Amino acid sequence: MIFRARHLLGIEHLSPQEIVSVLDLADRYVDLNRRTVKQSDVLAGMTQINMFFENSTRTQASFELAGKRLGADVMNMSVAQSSVKKGETLIDTALTLNAMHPDLLVVRHPSSGAVNLLASKVNCAVLNAGDGRHEHPTQALLDALTIRRAKGRIQRLTVAICGDIAHSRVARSNLILLGKMENRIRLIAPPTLMPPGVDAFGCELFDDMAAGLEGADVVMMLRLQRERMDGGFIPSEREYYHRFGLDAEKLAAAKPDAIVMHPGPMNRGVEIDGELADDINRSVIQEQVEMGVAVRMACMDLLARNLRAGRGMKATEVMV
Ligand code: CP
Repeated sequence: MIFRARHLLGIEHLSPQEIVSVLDLADRYVDLNRRTVKQSDVLAGMTQINMFFENSTRTQASFELAGKRLGADVMNMSVAQSSVKKGETLIDTALTLNAMHPDLLVVRHPSSGAVNLLASKVNCAVLNAGDGRHEHPTQALLDALTIRRAKGRIQRLTVAICGDIAHSRVARSNLILLGKMENRIRLIAPPTLMPPGVDAFGCELFDDMAAGLEGADVVMMLRLQRERMDGGFIPSEREYYHRFGLDAEKLAAAKPDAIVMHPGPMNRGVEIDGELADDINRSVIQEQVEMGVAVRMACMDLLARNLRAGRGMKATEVMV
């Protein structure tokens, strides 16, 4: 198993072999999570702090569950009740927590690059739970695991990523991961939601769903990221759904066995038809959530191994 990283800040820092290592280990954690007793001790004695400066349901809950299932002491810092509200900076907050000797720090922040900056100031492993429009590495890894389990591989697939590409860290991390794994990537969006220069990632660009979905193996829908929009990017939600919302009729352009994905939270009737989202024969949205816990367990397990190796400790060694 190859995984050299000290932190998980983005997919751009991972090699294809490291990505495969995460997916292989996550597959084993899927099995553990389906048992009645879901307990392991690979993080026993370690402390995990979750710092979410932006709202989250899936990512925060799954990092918390992942840490607890691996035996870590998990603390969720409540940003709303913290001294951040009194003006304490991100760096001072991080240094304060670092002085309490955490081993794993999970951070979500609205500013691109904030998590990388924080990682340079602390001496524990830092996991990026989403920073601005930059990266959401565990989302791309859980998407890759979901695709690999549904399609039997994570190479040589045609993947259509549709919607608000411009504001999406999910799209960016997926673009990087799917490109590293040699897939054919198509981006479908209205021109106002397609970031300039994105074709440098080696993807094909479309502003028409029928053309972009033609023959796709995987259809990945994105949320309209209203919190990152500072103006009108679409004429109306109704118009957007008519042209870019996924329904059974538009999906008919993709392969008959194409899977439908959405990272959540989803806006039914804006990005995706509610019935299609719930159709267990096409939609793997619930599988994505399940894979999220396993992938986060795998990432923390691998980072903890590197942390112990850096401290000259064996997995079971305890210092008293
Ligand atoms: N996909 C995702 O990051 O969801 P949350 O914002 O609920 O964590």
